[in-house]
Amino acid sequence: MSPTSPPSHDDLATPVGTTLERYIMRKQAEFPFATGELSQLLRDIALASKIMVREVSRAGLSGLAEVVAPEGQDTPPRHRLGEEAHVRFVRALTNGRECCAILSEASADMIDTGNHDGRYVVALNPMNGSVSLDFNVSTGTIFSIYRRVSRYGGPARVEDFLQGGRAQVAAGYILYGSSVMLVYTTGHGVAGFTYEPSLGEFFLSHPKLTIPATGEVFSCNEGNWFDFPDFARAFLTTCKERRMAARYVGSLAADYHRNLFTGGIYLYPPTGQWPSGKLRLLYECYPIAFISEQAGGVAVTGAEEVLDVRPTADLHQRVPLFVGSAELVRELQSVATA
Ligand code: F6P
Repeated sequence: MSPTSPPSHDDLATPVGTTLERYIMRKQAEFPFATGELSQLLRDIALASKIMVREVSRAGLSGLAEVVAPEGQDTPPRHRLGEEAHVRFVRALTNGRECCAILSEASADMIDTGNHDGRYVVALNPMNGSVSLDFNVSTGTIFSIYRRVSRYGGPARVEDFLQGGRAQVAAGYILYGSSVMLVYTTGHGVAGFTYEPSLGEFFLSHPKLTIPATGEVFSCNEGNWFDFPDFARAFLTTCKERRMAARYVGSLAADYHRNLFTGGIYLYPPTGQWPSGKLRLLYECYPIAFISEQAGGVAVTGAEEVLDVRPTADLHQRVPLFVGSAELVRELQSVATA
C-alpha cells in the first residue's frame, strides 16, 4: 500500500500485527464453503513449529544437536533435532485429526495417522539444514498440503501425495533464524508471520510478500562446480561477470527466504553425487515453487517448471532446482534450453 492509497479491504481486515490464529479465521470466513479443516491443519503446523522454536533454541544443551549415524549410502547425516522435529510434527498433525497421512523426509514410507476421516495429507521436511545446526546456522521446516483423492473414510494412498505440484492447496515454511518466521500460501498470495517469543504467538508482519523481479545474489554450493552441467556453469559465470554476490547458507528455507526479500536465484543443479539433483520434489521443491509462483517468482528444474513435473512413484524423488527472481530464473532456463 502506498502512503497515499486508501487501505484495501484486506489491509483493514488483517492489518500487520494480526495474530496467525485470527488471520487464519478471517481468511477462512472469506470462503463460504470452507469447513475449517484446512485452518485447523495450519494451526497444528504452527503449534508444532512453536515447540520446535523451543527445541532449536536449546539444542546445544539438550543434546539435540548431535548427529545420528546415517543408515544408508543415500542418507546424509542427520541431527537428533531432525528426528525430534519429525516426531513433533507427526504428533501435532495426528492429534489434530484433519490429516489422514504424512510424508516426512525422516521416514521412508508414508505415515498413516489413523485419522481416516481427515481430508488432507501433508508432505514435509521437518528440519532442513540441520547438518549446520552445531554452528547456530538457520534451519527450517518446509510443508505442502493436498486434499486427498483417495476414498474419504478409509486409509490414505500414495496417490494422495502424487497429484502434482499444481494440486497443492497450501504450502509454506518455518524459518528458525535470528527471528522465527512462518511463511505460507493457500494460493492467494504469500503472507509472513514473525514469532514473538515472550507471547508465544506468530504475528502478521509481511502481509503480501513478493520477490523482486531481479536481484544481485546467487546461492549455490560452488564446491560442486566441476560436477555442474555446462549450462549451470555458463549461467554462474555470467553472474560473476556481473559481480553479483554469492550467498549460501546450505539450508533451503534460509537461502530461499533471503532471496525472497533481496531478489536473487537459488541453484541446486545435478551433480556427480546427485545426478538427478539433491532436493526432494514433494516436500522441498513443490512447496517452494508454489510459494515462489504466488510471490511473483519462478521455479524450474532446468527447462521445465517445477510445478509441472510429473511425480514418479518414488515418494522421495529428487529433482534439480533453480528458483527465485523471475528474470534471473528465466535467463537460466534459456541457457539450459539453448
Ligand atoms: O534438504 C537438503 C538440503 O539440506 C537443503 O536444505 C540445502 O539447501 C541443501 O541440502 C544443501 O546441500 P549441500 O550441503 O550439498 O550444499
